[in-house]
Amino acid sequence: MATAQMTVSPEDLSKVPSNNERIPEPTVVVIFGASGDLTKRKLLPALYHLEQAGLLPKEFAIVGVARRPLGDEFAKDMRAGILEFGGVSEGDAHLDDFIKKVHYFPMNFDDGAAYGKLKSELDKIAKEHGIGNNRLFYLSVAPEYFAEIIDNLGAQGLAKPAQGSVRAVIEKPFGHDLESAKELNRQVNSVFAERQIFRIDHYLGKETVQNVLVFRFANGIFEPVWNRNYIDNIQITAAETLGVEGRGPFYEKAGALRDVVQNHVMELLSFVAMEPPMSFESQSVRLEKLKVWQAIPAIPMENVVRGQYGPGSIKGESVPGYRQEDRVDPESGTETYTALKLGIDNWRWAGVPFYIRAGKRLARRATEVTVQFKQPPSMIFNRGGSAGDCGEIQPNVITIRIQPDEGISLRFGAKVPSTQAMSVCPVTMDFDYAKAFGKSTANGYERLLLDAMIGDQTLFAHRDGVETTWALYTPILEHWAEKKPATFPNYAAGSWGPDCADELLKADGRTWRKL
Ligand code: BG6
Repeated sequence: MATAQMTVSPEDLSKVPSNNERIPEPTVVVIFGASGDLTKRKLLPALYHLEQAGLLPKEFAIVGVARRPLGDEFAKDMRAGILEFGGVSEGDAHLDDFIKKVHYFPMNFDDGAAYGKLKSELDKIAKEHGIGNNRLFYLSVAPEYFAEIIDNLGAQGLAKPAQGSVRAVIEKPFGHDLESAKELNRQVNSVFAERQIFRIDHYLGKETVQNVLVFRFANGIFEPVWNRNYIDNIQITAAETLGVEGRGPFYEKAGALRDVVQNHVMELLSFVAMEPPMSFESQSVRLEKLKVWQAIPAIPMENVVRGQYGPGSIKGESVPGYRQEDRVDPESGTETYTALKLGIDNWRWAGVPFYIRAGKRLARRATEVTVQFKQPPSMIFNRGGSAGDCGEIQPNVITIRIQPDEGISLRFGAKVPSTQAMSVCPVTMDFDYAKAFGKSTANGYERLLLDAMIGDQTLFAHRDGVETTWALYTPILEHWAEKKPATFPNYAAGSWGPDCADELLKADGRTWRKL
């Protein structure tokens, strides 16, 4: 296929507004579960990127909290993480000063008395760095600790100090079904006001996910055709080559539907399907997202399939099946893949199927949204598929590549040069993020951490949204829990998933987009 690349000129880039007005107030960021992978791989590199960009206040400190007695080792380990995962070189100008702001406090999350000591330690560190009462608590812990930590923060008066702002960022999974999500919301809201709570979904930190809204609402030409009159179907794929990466016990209880679809994919779907919000402001955006989820009718069981990978090979290397992974039940019924069809019952989308697939150990890593348009009402070229080399004319497709190879492409038909025939072949116009804007080392947490410190909830999940998406998927999870599928494992690692996923689309006369 031919490709036309669109570019951005340096003059355009220089017009990007400065973000100086977004520097947060002096804050202590307190990370619970700081010895886990997320802190080293994502959070500290992201905070350091903010420091490099001049977006952190001078008076700033980070306190890691976890069980192990790490002492000074913690700051050293974080430094190593910034170098390894943040694309930062040794000797970088801000690194040594930044690391001086990194502290550690060991404690057990279930030790009520330790929270009093934590409070004194935070006050001491804050004083040392010239920070007042602003605190950002980041809960990067196993879900069973959420409620306990939050209750203890409340009991010690850490949630609502007399002056200053206190906010709590809560990592996913936010509950494991509707009831548990409601209970967690109740517990969290009994200590923190909703405006203090930041339920994080790292997909919303991705530039390409935010760009879905820009693509739709900052351009005049796409929105008029973004509806049931012009669109045939929409596919959302979240394909990973990774397996469970040593997270067997977590994944056994989660599975693909809970781990990725109920949160990441639904957030993405809401951006693709929502009505234009009144403004890019928290309340407006949240309301429009909620309206999309509320318009999705119950998903019939025949529209959902599940899969589990067996042994296979990824990039030429043999990999074990899911049941052979560390700390996974050798007869596990947990799904590592799911595909489903849902509808959105409103004026814009009635009758347009949304096909979703998400899975681990697939042939390629790719998160994409594919918007396939209807064919022209009457076809005067390539009739019957015989004319030209390209066969039948292909429908127009807009592909939004969330990751990797971030970008957007539009497929359309073009005349093949010839003095004899009117043959049509598909070509693409392609926007490539890296080519247009340069490669970025940001991991998505930069934006979300900054927003949380500032108090902007636009890119965070709201209580009602979380409960609405759980309400949609809980019946499916309950149905699945009743019976382990006899066919598992039903796809080989390194393949494109189980046959039942292809059959789901075949029944509608469609196929999954080849990735
Ligand atoms: C996490 C899931 O939330 O998202 C992981 O728990 C998954 O299982 C990851 O691998 C995918 O995120 P990304 O940014 O790599 O697509």
